[in-house]
Amino acid sequence: MKAIIYETYGPPNVLKLTDTENPAVTEDGVLVRIHASSVNPAEWHGMSGLIIMRPSGGLFKPKDPRIGTDFSGVVEAVGSKVTHLKPGDEVYGGRNGAFAEYVNVVNAVVKKPANVNFEEAAAIPTAGVTALQGLRDHGKIKPGDQVLINGAAGGVGTFAVQIAKALGAEVTGVTSTKNVELVRSLGADHVIDYTKTDFTRNGKQYDLLFDIAGNRTWKEYKQVLKPNANFIIVGAPKGNKVLGPLARIFNLKLASLGASQKVIFFIAQFNRPDLDILRELVESGQVKSVVEKVYPLAKAVDAMNHLGTGHARGKIILKIR
Ligand SMILES: NC(=O)c1ccc[n+]([C@@H]2O[C@H](COP(=O)([O-])OP(=O)(O)OC[C@H]3O[C@@H](n4cnc5c(N)ncnc54)[C@H](OP(=O)(O)O)[C@@H]3O)[C@@H](O)[C@H]2O)c1
Repeated sequence: MKAIIYETYGPPNVLKLTDTENPAVTEDGVLVRIHASSVNPAEWHGMSGLIIMRPSGGLFKPKDPRIGTDFSGVVEAVGSKVTHLKPGDEVYGGRNGAFAEYVNVVNAVVKKPANVNFEEAAAIPTAGVTALQGLRDHGKIKPGDQVLINGAAGGVGTFAVQIAKALGAEVTGVTSTKNVELVRSLGADHVIDYTKTDFTRNGKQYDLLFDIAGNRTWKEYKQVLKPNANFIIVGAPKGNKVLGPLARIFNLKLASLGASQKVIFFIAQFNRPDLDILRELVESGQVKSVVEKVYPLAKAVDAMNHLGTGHARGKIILKIR
C-alpha cells in the first residue's frame, strides 16, 4: 500500500511517500481502507522530534516511521473477536499510521456520521475529541456558563465553539479578522478580533477559559477568570526544540499555583463512546466540520507546511482514495 513515513526527524520535507506492506487484521482489529485523513499539531511535534518525546519515540530517529492519526474509510475486514462492525461499514476514528491506504484499528473506530463525506469525517477525531473532553470532562461546562475560546478558528477551536454551544454555554471566540465571520457562523455569541481588541483587557470575566492558542501570560489570563473559573490549557505555540509547547504549559501551571481558579492541562484520549457522541452531534446538525483545504496523500509535505503556519482555518485534509 501507499503510505507516508518519516525515517528521520525534521521539517515537513522528511515525510516520504512510499510503498509498504498492508497491515494484517488482528483478531481484535478492524482493517480499514482509508479514504481520508487530517493533519494535527501532534504529528508535527512527533515529526520534528522534540527532545522530550525522544526517549519513547526514538533517540536519534523515529522508532516507528508511520505517521498520521485521524482517518475515515470503509471496513475491509474484521478480526474474529469483533462484533460491533462488519466489512463495508463506513467508519472513522484514530490510529497511528493513518497517512496510508490501510490501517488495522483495535479500539478507536466507530461508524462515521452518515450525513458527511469522508473528508469531513476525517476532520473530526482528534480535534473533536479534544474539544469534547476538554469542555465536558475537564472544563465541567454547564448550561449558561460564559465560555471564552482563545483560538476559535483552527481545528480544535471550530469544534469547541460548536460543542460549547450544543452544551448550552454563552460562547465568546477569539480569532483574527479574516475568521471573525466563520466563528460567528459556527454559533459564537460574541467574537473578539485579536488584531483589534485585547480580550484580557476588556473587563469581562468568564466561568471557563478554553485556551487553544496559549499565547498569553498567567497574569493576563487571570484578568478574565471569575474566582471559581476553570482554565483549560489545550495547546500553545510550537516553542523550543526540547519541550515544544510544554515549556509554556509548565510555566502557566507553575505561575498559577495557589490561585482560586482550577488550571488544568490534559491530553485527549480516544474512546468509542466519545466518537459516537461526536457522530450524533454531527448527524443532528449541531456540529459540522470546517475543511479549509484538501491535499492528495502525495502532497502530505504541503499539507503539513500549511498546518505549520499556525493559521489553519478549520481542518486540513489528506485525500487518500
Ligand atoms: N491537549 C490535547 O489533547 C490537544 C489535542 C489537539 C491539539 N492540541 C493543541 O492545541 C493547539 C491547536 O491545535 P489545532 O489542531 O486547533 O491547531 P490549528 O488547526 O493549527 O489551529 C490554529 C488556529 O490558531 C489560531 N491562532 C493563531 N494565533 C492566535 C492568536 N494569537 N490568538 C488566537 N488564535 C490564534 C489561528 O487562527 P487565526 O488564523 O485567526 O490566527 C488558527 O485558526 C496546538 O497547540 C495543539 O498541539 C492539544
